Amino acid sequence: MSKVLITGAAGFIGSQLAYKLWTDGDDLVLIDNFSYGSEDNLIFEKHDFRAEVIRMDIRDIDAINRLFEKEQFDYVYHIAAITPLPDCQTNPSEAVEVNVMGTVNILEAGRRYGAGKIIFASTSAVYENTEKFPSLEDEVVPPSLIYPNTKYTAECYCRAYADVYGMNITCMRFANVYGPHLDCLRTQPPVVGYLIREFYYDRKPILHSNGTQKRDFVYVEDLVDLCLRVRQGTGFDIVNVSINEVISINELTEVVAELMGKAHLKPDYTDSGNYWKKYPELYEGVYRISERALDHEVTKYTRLSNQHAWERYGWKPRTDLRTGIQNTIDFSVRVIRERDKKG
Ligand SMILES: NC(=O)c1ccc[n+]([C@@H]2O[C@H](COP(=O)([O-])OP(=O)(O)OC[C@H]3O[C@@H](n4cnc5c(N)ncnc54)[C@H](O)[C@@H]3O)[C@@H](O)[C@H]2O)c1
Repeated sequence: MSKVLITGAAGFIGSQLAYKLWTDGDDLVLIDNFSYGSEDNLIFEKHDFRAEVIRMDIRDIDAINRLFEKEQFDYVYHIAAITPLPDCQTNPSEAVEVNVMGTVNILEAGRRYGAGKIIFASTSAVYENTEKFPSLEDEVVPPSLIYPNTKYTAECYCRAYADVYGMNITCMRFANVYGPHLDCLRTQPPVVGYLIREFYYDRKPILHSNGTQKRDFVYVEDLVDLCLRVRQGTGFDIVNVSINEVISINELTEVVAELMGKAHLKPDYTDSGNYWKKYPELYEGVYRISERALDHEVTKYTRLSNQHAWERYGWKPRTDLRTGIQNTIDFSVRVIRERDKKG
């Protein structure tokens, strides 16, 4: 039995990972500050984690140090972060404090008190300026927006700690992740959650740009499978977690609509800049956000190679899109119904 820490355990990916590790019999320590995660995420068919998650902020260096000193972790999954791109862009100091400093706190506590291995949740967003597809782990062109920069910087610190202290650290660059527990209720949910919510309420989804932008989507259970496999790697590593296939947002919308019986609700389209208009602070001040950067974020193409995941960890994604989307719909519809019942 391994002693495992998961930060961000009340979030979409952290909670799914917790359930899998609990099923496997690991001894879990779960932390979250509930800034984004929710208690609903912690209720599973065979287990309820609500009473087990410690309310802790990864910025609280003393609390993090005490935790590492007490527990002596075999594995640390550092999943906590501020993930919505607009939140990072509108509050860069907080994004850096949580995503960069919070990661350094975890690395430093692991160095001082020992941690068998640290696995860091990074993102395909670091490839925002990379124009080679499918993108390889060592081909990153430094990104421009705040969120990918926080992750890119945190990766650099992971590498630094591995180099200087000989720690075992893996950075996993997740493509767009979907699956049960995906947030469909936040102001700007990820696209799959957004589509499910709009179709559930019989509303036409509004797609930014013309919907032809293509992305690489990976199912959360497949991602969790790789989270387990990377435990075997020593030293420093970066690995993409993707299906290395793309689907356009229009095609994705059609799949969700068809599976929910809402194919008659054809999407409306709006200018890519309108996505950001909900964040007026970005348009205030002496220097305003550039239209080019905004348009690029909405229309960019993402495709990640998963060759390294296969060669080093024997991992391949197994879930086909329709099955994954159906599971996501089933879960999200239950969550929306429960929320509406509570009022
Ligand atoms: N979901 C995706 O498509 C995707 C894609 C690429 C990378 N990622 C990365 O995967 C990780 C998990 O993403 P997710 O979709 O589950 O996001 P999420 O927002 O559902 O989960 C993140 C969790 O971290 C917690 N958290 C935030 N700040 C914290 C702090 N200061 N202290 C303690 N906890 C804090 C939040 O409350 C939340 O529960 C993130 O690091 C994200 O950057 C996600």
